[in-house]
Amino acid sequence: MCGIVGYYGSENAAPILLNGLEKLEYRGYDSAGIAVVDGGKLQLVRKKGSVSELFSARGIQGHLGIGHTRWATHGAPSEINAHPHVYGKFAVVHNGIIENEYSLKEECRARGDVFSSETDSEVIAHLLDFYYEGNLVTAVKDTVERLKGSYALAVVCEECDCIVCVRKASPLVVGIGKNGVYAASDVSAIAAEGVTVYSLDDGELAVLSTEITFFNQNLVRIEKEKIEYDAEEEIPDLKGYRHFMRKEMAEIPQVLGKSIYDYTEETYREFYRILTQTEQIQIVACGTAYHSGLCAKYAIESLCRIPVEVCIASEYRYLDPIVRSGTLALAVSQSGETADTLAAAQLAKNKGAYLAAVTNVPYSSLTRIADAVLPTNAGREVAVAATKSFHAQLVLLYSLASALAKAKGREECLPHIYDLLDQVKCAEETCEEVRSWVPHFLGARSVFFLGRGADYASSLEGSLKLKEITYLPSEGYPAGELKHGTLALVDCSTPVVAVLTQKAFAEKTMNAVHEVYARGAKVFLITCFEEYCNRKEVTSSVLIPVCKEEFTPVLSVLPLQALAYYVSIARGNNPDKPRNLAKSVTVE
Ligand code: AGP
Repeated sequence: MCGIVGYYGSENAAPILLNGLEKLEYRGYDSAGIAVVDGGKLQLVRKKGSVSELFSARGIQGHLGIGHTRWATHGAPSEINAHPHVYGKFAVVHNGIIENEYSLKEECRARGDVFSSETDSEVIAHLLDFYYEGNLVTAVKDTVERLKGSYALAVVCEECDCIVCVRKASPLVVGIGKNGVYAASDVSAIAAEGVTVYSLDDGELAVLSTEITFFNQNLVRIEKEKIEYDAEEEIPDLKGYRHFMRKEMAEIPQVLGKSIYDYTEETYREFYRILTQTEQIQIVACGTAYHSGLCAKYAIESLCRIPVEVCIASEYRYLDPIVRSGTLALAVSQSGETADTLAAAQLAKNKGAYLAAVTNVPYSSLTRIADAVLPTNAGREVAVAATKSFHAQLVLLYSLASALAKAKGREECLPHIYDLLDQVKCAEETCEEVRSWVPHFLGARSVFFLGRGADYASSLEGSLKLKEITYLPSEGYPAGELKHGTLALVDCSTPVVAVLTQKAFAEKTMNAVHEVYARGAKVFLITCFEEYCNRKEVTSSVLIPVCKEEFTPVLSVLPLQALAYYVSIARGNNPDKPRNLAKSVTVE
């Protein structure tokens, strides 16, 4: 969701800013721009489209500057709406949403200001111009005191030899390297051997010049502790693959082993006590992470007989949810920066839940508000469509289920989770098998994914992946619910993917298969039961290994991800950068 970079140092700023922006393009790629200050003059270059459109800016001279890659919220993707926004002597790049933009703009207009863009962000430059009396730091402080909403800001001024950064509810880090100091919305933009990185907390300011000075919101100087990161992991590398999405899927078998935990009293004392005493679990998450939560619900309820509520974070945060005492809240988020998940997690905690963060980014905002951090260890995920992080979340959540089931004297499941490490390698082979299904999906007007229980959760994820990167309308549906209305949409042009891994529901799911087949639909089956593969209703099938029923989404979702990937390529899309989307949704 938009990316920010800033640089002050001995080198020319422009190439450093552009390199940083290229690394941040996964956060947004509607438009991009940089502003460099040289000799008391601001030089601005902005373009619609990707960062590569800014190649003409490489030669700009100047040792300090800011840059931005945008994911449009307010105003269409265009050059005029691209950041940095400049007013008077000031240039600003902004991630987040200014909720009181209208009243602030009215106030500025009453003073005679004219706005040139449709963005909420431009008003920040106007406020800086109003509050500036020769000190950029106090002007930034006075400005942000007027803002409602979320922001990560980097600000430069023609008269000042520094960059001022500040944040609220949107990530921002700063770093010190041997050739200068840096700012970024994401460590990956500035990660390199030897760069020491600090993360700003809400309200804190950093002033970047020959050194970095930190202030709290009252402008009292503070010291910050550096954060740990793996420089190698932060540098994206395709390693011979055409797309990050396919590379990340191929990594799933290795990733799983790092996400399996043996939660015991000895190793995870406090968390183990909370886990095993909990009477209710609430999972808050968005998108794919929500689907991993749904998969976990089926496993935890079946194995442990503990109620699990899985809540879409953007709903939960505004619904005054009921949190009973003894509730364990699990906030599941690959990035740990999703605004809705952060707000929902904070709310659950405020209402008395013990908050555990299930996240892939150990220094993310979510980890800072959580009582316990459960790292998924999937490694950096670059493709917008989540794949390996979903699998890592699954096995981590299954590990929790396993510890809980054992503590309750119900059953020992951990060996079954370890079995998945080999089983997933066989399931990986089905990724190539589903390529033969692709022609059937190319001309489809819509696609259905059907399943019951855990297979329904897998279907939802299969459908989300397909929508996200192929732009084909599709629905994940409970197999038994189809006949209550949606069957009206099915005809001979509707491919239907049925997921069938739960023995008890197998014939029931096949009923739905009969129903769609009778309406002319072609059925593509993902199952671990060979006997269903050759049924006349099934156009084509892939056979995944048999595993413990509660854990089947680990195996069934792999071919679903692959189907979306190959259909996306066949439709001429770039699966790594789907239109209108960004990897990390740091705004509401
Ligand atoms: C997944 O393919 C999507 N890009 C999206 O649904 C994502 O899972 C969601 O935005 C949540 O992100 P998070 O896991 O970083 O919180």
